Amino acid sequence: MLINIGQLLTLRAAGSGPRRGPDLKQLGIIEGGAVLCLGGKVVSVGTTKDALRDPWLKKNRKKVVEIDCEGQVVLPGFVDSHTHPAFISPRLVDFEKRISGATYEEIAAAGGGIRSSVEGVRKAGKSLLAERVLDALHEMAEQGTTTVEAKSGYGLNAESELKSLEAIREAAARWPGTVVSTLLGAHVVPKDFQGKSGQYVKEVCEKMIPQAAKRKLAQFVDVFTDRGAFSAEDTERIFECAAKHGLGVRAHVCQLSETVLWPLLRFHPASFDHMDHVNEDDIPQLAKRDTIATLVPGANYFLGLEKFPPARKLIDAGVPVALATDYNPGSSPTASMPFVLSLACTHMKMSPAEAVAAATLNGAWALRLQERKGSIEPGKDADLAVFETRDYREIAYWFASNHCAFTVLNGTMVASGGSGEVE
Ligand code: NIG
Ligand code: FE
Repeated sequence: MLINIGQLLTLRAAGSGPRRGPDLKQLGIIEGGAVLCLGGKVVSVGTTKDALRDPWLKKNRKKVVEIDCEGQVVLPGFVDSHTHPAFISPRLVDFEKRISGATYEEIAAAGGGIRSSVEGVRKAGKSLLAERVLDALHEMAEQGTTTVEAKSGYGLNAESELKSLEAIREAAARWPGTVVSTLLGAHVVPKDFQGKSGQYVKEVCEKMIPQAAKRKLAQFVDVFTDRGAFSAEDTERIFECAAKHGLGVRAHVCQLSETVLWPLLRFHPASFDHMDHVNEDDIPQLAKRDTIATLVPGANYFLGLEKFPPARKLIDAGVPVALATDYNPGSSPTASMPFVLSLACTHMKMSPAEAVAAATLNGAWALRLQERKGSIEPGKDADLAVFETRDYREIAYWFASNHCAFTVLNGTMVASGGSGEVE
């Protein structure tokens, strides 16, 4: 039981569906809050005063581990709904080339980019890859993240994509938080299929998706639907196959150029991610749906772009927006959700309250885990982040330093600073 919480951000229900428009900033704050968790679930939420008067608690107080939060802030653990942790090496050559003026696409065309991460993954053993994923999960938890979506996407053949998903599963089994896996076999066309993208799409549809589904290695299928990667037609073929195998779908869209979204809407994607170059005419359509626009400003920051995703336009039009790190070696090497919140506020003009809801409840919606994750309510999973601040706005205010004191992941407490599980 956590007591004496200065601000308890419950994110409790404000209507049904993902948060949109003015509802995005409703945090359901309880001052002087308390949360009781049992068996990995939240069982009661309220004020410390009421909790201590509760007859059940009075009788059982000795059995309950009580943590005095001394006025700190508690919120639902972050749901990082877009990450690519299954890679081996940082891409330092790309980094330096960009500093010298080359763009992300120029670097990719010259042999860098996503394709240059493939050799390392193909050569690596599954356990090394799992170690890398686990390191990222630990780093994420240290900064308040309790649920992570993890994509494959640097193997680019059936063997190495499935190995990446197995590595994600192995890492997830050794981490107390929740991991949702996504097959991103259609990240780019690999070198060995250059000029034969149709054949590669066939590999994805006939080998990767059926095996990933059969072995329950992925819940979602993702496609990079953009200039230099896959077309809307390729994506439709892949989504059709995913649906046939019972997998959910999501897509990287409008990162480098405008992606035509309407042919994809019939598949009810859980999310459209990036959205930098979204066509304004698509915005009213998206406002009517539950496809979450997942914004990943870490990529804009790291690629040194002047423009950031149009969060205000999307939110003000009623599109449900989430925030995620996009943790990956090429465009966003950060595991920090607090830094993403900071970017959302300073560069996208989201308010700190909107950023918190986008990083928790709407992140849960983006993974279709809204029944279990994203808010602190009785019956939901015991996923909490405790920040050593007096005011929740400080989470987005301080940047490049970690103010997370500890997290609770499915009921397991983990201290920040790498000291592992707390008794
Ligand atoms: O989300 N855009 C495609 N995928 C990643 C980048 C991956 C990489 O460069 O390694 C992204 O930005
Ligand atoms: Fe991505």
